[in-house]
Amino acid sequence: MEKFVVTPWEVKGKIDYDKLIKKFGTQKIDKKLKNRIQKHTKELHVMLRRDVYYSHRDLDKVLDDYEKGKGFFLYTGRGPSGKMHIGHLLPFVFTKWLQQKFKVNVYIEITDDEKFLVKENVKWEEIKKFAEENILDIAAVGFDRKRTFIFKDSEYIKNIYPLVVKIAKKINFSTVKAVFGFKNQTNIGMIFFPALQIVPTMFEKKRALIPAAIDQDPYWRVQRDIAEKFSYEKAACIHSKMLPALTGLDEKMSSSKPHTAIFLDEDEKSIRKKIYKYAFSGGQATVELHRKLGGNPEIDVSFQWLKFFFEPDDKKLKKIEEDYKTGKLLTGELKEILIEKVSKFLQKFQENREKAKNYVDDYLYHGKLARKMWNTVYE
Ligand code: TYM
Repeated sequence: MEKFVVTPWEVKGKIDYDKLIKKFGTQKIDKKLKNRIQKHTKELHVMLRRDVYYSHRDLDKVLDDYEKGKGFFLYTGRGPSGKMHIGHLLPFVFTKWLQQKFKVNVYIEITDDEKFLVKENVKWEEIKKFAEENILDIAAVGFDRKRTFIFKDSEYIKNIYPLVVKIAKKINFSTVKAVFGFKNQTNIGMIFFPALQIVPTMFEKKRALIPAAIDQDPYWRVQRDIAEKFSYEKAACIHSKMLPALTGLDEKMSSSKPHTAIFLDEDEKSIRKKIYKYAFSGGQATVELHRKLGGNPEIDVSFQWLKFFFEPDDKKLKKIEEDYKTGKLLTGELKEILIEKVSKFLQKFQENREKAKNYVDDYLYHGKLARKMWNTVYE
């Protein structure tokens, strides 16, 4: 029996990421591939350097296409089921970095339909409200306004419905049952929905590169089975690990358990309170013991968050790790480092979010790519 579960709707237990590569049949991002990326981007994003983005499908082919001048496009998304936490934001931060480096189009799907269908007892009105809030969060990341299209499924559906039904016709129930674990009790909206998450991979006659956490991979497996039947490219993807919950590496950050995550609208006071109270510590029970035995950064969530994203300076991170291991750095001090980093990041983010209110409509309707997309019907 597996001790962990990873699906688009459920993440449980301590994830063994190497096992997932085998189970999903993906490839590790190795040194050679990183060097190839770096040839074009000059620097490597901290999440690539630290193997947060650690697995892929056909990333090498994306680079072939780019080098041959054919190009590629980026596609990612968000299911607006609630407020966004920091984990949800990271794929957008990474996608923006790729867009800046490769100067390519980005399509961002807001799956309001999916979240209405999958969540019990949710009202359409609530999903609508979260979709607007989440879109503003995504706009605050600062994508290129000429090259980015953000769309809600329920609104853009009329431009894509013919292609969606063609995709749906090529996928049978036994496939989605096996891939997503659907049951006879699953509502028929969910059974149809995979066609909607697949359709943006066909927005251009080029290869799509999809940055996301590895939980979304099942969709890409289905896409890759059928894409060539439509003379579209198999989607390529680049997978990240999941930012662990504050409460420990074997837990999932969850919007329904607010103490497990930090949300994008939190201020320093509430960040400090949460990290002090809930961030799982790899330190010893008393200061005396900690000075003597040192802490364990491998299981310490504050350290893991710094490593994941929040301390991009490799030398500083190394020193924090050493000092923590030898007991020179105490748990409280380590938490203070993280509190400062997260607070600064979110303060800047919240300022950007205010500014984004002025131009969020460029992504949705008025920017160059958005206008083109509203004038396109996919059949
Ligand atoms: P959603 O809203 O569950 O998640 C949004 C994005 O955040 C990633 N993610 C995380 N990344 C790091 N650490 C975490 N703890 C963490 N939790 C979630 C997800 O992998 C995702 O990239 N069905 C999708 C919406 C969607 C989509 C897409 C996502 C539609 N098209 C294409 C990625 C790519 C969903 O509900 O995502």
